[in-house]
Amino acid sequence: MCGIVGYSGKRSAADFLINGLKKLEYRGYDSAGIAVNCGGKIVTVKAEGRMENLERKLAQAALPEAFCGIGHTRWATHGEPSDINSHPHSAGRVTLVHNGIIENYAKRKQHLEEKGRVFVSQTDTEVIAQLLDYYYADNPVEAIQKTLTKLRGSYALAILFSDRPDTIYAVRKDSPLVIGKGKDEICIASDIPAFLSVTKDYYLLEEGEIAIVRNGDVRFLDEWGNETVKQLNTATWNFEEAEKCGYKHFMLKEMHEEPKSLKNTIYPRIADGIDHILEKELASTESIRRLYIVGCGSAMHAGLLGKSAIESLAHIPCSVEIASEFRYGTPLFADGDAVVLISQSGETADSLAVLKLAREKGVPVIAIVNVVGSSIARGADIVLYTNAGPEIAVATTKAYTAQVAVLYMMALRLGIDRKTVSRERAEQIFEALKQLPEKAEEVLANETEYQRMATTYRNSHDLFFIGRGQDWAICCEGSLKLKEISYMHSEAYAAGELKHGTISLIEEGVPVIAISTTAALREKTISNLKEVLARGAHVIYECPASAVPEQKFYHDIIVLPDIDESVMPILAIIPLQMIAYYTAVDRGSDVDKPRNLAKSVTVE
Ligand code: M6R
Repeated sequence: MCGIVGYSGKRSAADFLINGLKKLEYRGYDSAGIAVNCGGKIVTVKAEGRMENLERKLAQAALPEAFCGIGHTRWATHGEPSDINSHPHSAGRVTLVHNGIIENYAKRKQHLEEKGRVFVSQTDTEVIAQLLDYYYADNPVEAIQKTLTKLRGSYALAILFSDRPDTIYAVRKDSPLVIGKGKDEICIASDIPAFLSVTKDYYLLEEGEIAIVRNGDVRFLDEWGNETVKQLNTATWNFEEAEKCGYKHFMLKEMHEEPKSLKNTIYPRIADGIDHILEKELASTESIRRLYIVGCGSAMHAGLLGKSAIESLAHIPCSVEIASEFRYGTPLFADGDAVVLISQSGETADSLAVLKLAREKGVPVIAIVNVVGSSIARGADIVLYTNAGPEIAVATTKAYTAQVAVLYMMALRLGIDRKTVSRERAEQIFEALKQLPEKAEEVLANETEYQRMATTYRNSHDLFFIGRGQDWAICCEGSLKLKEISYMHSEAYAAGELKHGTISLIEEGVPVIAISTTAALREKTISNLKEVLARGAHVIYECPASAVPEQKFYHDIIVLPDIDESVMPILAIIPLQMIAYYTAVDRGSDVDKPRNLAKSVTVE
């Protein structure tokens, strides 16, 4: 969480920093601040709350013209959101911004206070500034190296020293940091969209390296302080992809991008025919006997769908794990085990910890990741990119459906390799994968219907989702989406579990969305649906066109285009994303930046 930026070049640093921070606001929006380095004179402006507050303050502050500076958008961890706790933080000659958490800050703070240092904020970050100033004699690199040895935790830092005019020092550990390289200008950021308006070329900063940015140029030192030459990468994302392009919210734009994103995810992998699906990326999988599918939030929900596809097509036992639980559990890894790690950002702290755990135990990791060059992508043995393009809204939509699509292709590849799926069945699924983008367009064409349903149920106190098998997995995701952005209470239940407790919550008028994409389970789901109907629930039934019942036992219906049911969950989630979106809009919540959340969860 938290986003950091830095700039050195020929344009106004403040303008770049503000624009960059706006692109990173999805990482946290409790406060924002910038500091410019104007020939050694460092001026800091920061404000609690959204970027508008900072912009208002900046309009009043007579900021000197500066071409070098750093900025921060905060998701509060240590210390409430306030002006004082906002970044940048300063101590003596040092001013810096930080993304991450310093776990031993209390001990370090006490130590420094005993030496007479006075702290002004409650943040862990201020400890870094104080330590740097404490160790700084006349060599910034030495001070940084010494300071880092005293810190435990995660950090991406951009640092200014008041006696080093127009220079920024950047380092990282367990938090992302990329360095954009334009013509005579250098941008520092937690994520590429922050500088896509300037350049698509970037360096990935490795742990232990120090970047020294000055006068629009950058030098890198390795962990021993030697100059190093780094590879320049080029982002495949476009500037427009990280813009709203006329949509009211990023989430709405990103849902409308689902057909395109599915195409980008699926088509390059199926282009050479069924026998070559994922062939280049997923070679030599014969030794796999068991898969641990791990992720957080929606990524974990995608994993639930992956499990049912892989088990049914490839007959490989899978367990789906919540990363934050798995990392502290006792995984009984054995020969033939592999971890499938799913993450949009590729930076989620708990998922990253699972990657490290697997590596320590010698278990191979297959990562399904959206952000190219992210920590998880770099650390995994095999990376299957989702190709969904930048996703800015906190609530994931297109990245989630792309993750599921990758898992389906993986299931098919594994099934074909193991001969556990018949040729005929494999061809049916292959065809269905091909049709997905077009069918997703059809689903989106009913947007006004989803909007109407959202308006109908907008004032409900609770909303339940029920389904069986893969439909339960869709329920989990639909429910998360709704509560995450509209703040309406919602739960997802395996339809057969209702009568073991939850059904007592059903009373007159409570909306229940019942999902039925699986023919074999349909009658059972309908029985459960009738049970809630009999207790006064308002039922919204979701099923494919060919399964619309003759008898109208529901209050509302979401009709999905027909497609092979093995891939139908990808279509089934889109109306639920839309309903969540319009419910949030109707209830007046901040759709793209829901309260208390951040998109990239880089803390435990
Ligand atoms: O970047 P990741 O995919 O690792 O993020 C995992 C979760 O934090 C994420 O899916 C979260 O649940 C979403 N905000 C849900 O919309």
